[in-house]
Amino acid sequence: MSENRNAQPSLTPRPVRDSISEMTEIVLPNDANPLNALLGGRLMHWIDLAGAMAAHRHSRAYVVTASIDHLDFLVPVRVGDFVVLRSSVNRVFHTSMEVGVKVWVENYRSQQNQHVSSAYLTFVAIDAAGNKVPVAPVIPETEDEKRRYEGAARRREIRRAESLRRTVRV
Ligand SMILES: CC(C)(COP(=O)(O)OP(=O)(O)OC[C@H]1O[C@@H](n2cnc3c(N)ncnc32)[C@H](O)[C@@H]1OP(=O)(O)O)[C@@H](O)C(=O)NCCC(=O)NCCS
Repeated sequence: MSENRNAQPSLTPRPVRDSISEMTEIVLPNDANPLNALLGGRLMHWIDLAGAMAAHRHSRAYVVTASIDHLDFLVPVRVGDFVVLRSSVNRVFHTSMEVGVKVWVENYRSQQNQHVSSAYLTFVAIDAAGNKVPVAPVIPETEDEKRRYEGAARRREIRRAESLRRTVRV
């Protein structure tokens, strides 16, 4: 089936569940520092990819990462562990959307899961020529999805205020 790269994606609202994505990585020596702990930069890369999957699934468009909010790394992750990343679209604005990514480490020997990090990313939808395009609204259905939807509006205001503050200082 041939793909029309110039087709505009539909703007019919879609539920959050359509965007939910999960990605699992096994930590290999090339992902780690000399103490066998996962590099923060590698985890950031996986967070970006997991976030992009949800953004693509929801918008049905090409996307670029506009920003990644503050990140904490709560527990170390070791070579041999599984890293599980789960993402979904929290809210759509116009051409941009906030995606949440939650990361766990899974140790299959001890069968323990621990929360490693949570991130909010903003993706902007673009067409094949790089022009911004509008994104279909997202419909939150569960209590958690509604809480994240409300929170996304507050976080957008904080991002805007921070961006303005940085512009004024420079
Ligand atoms: C992100 C990008 C497309 C924004 O383009 P722009 O012309 O400055 O965009 P605008 O000011 O018109 O904003 C477009 C949307 O992006 C949002 N946006 C722009 N910069 C943002 C930022 N730093 N954080 C969050 N949202 C941002 C705006 O709020 C707006 O959202 P809305 O349409 O939903 O209201 C552009 O800066 C870009 O292409 N950056 C490079 C992206 C990239 O290459 N990422 C990969 C890592 S290098």
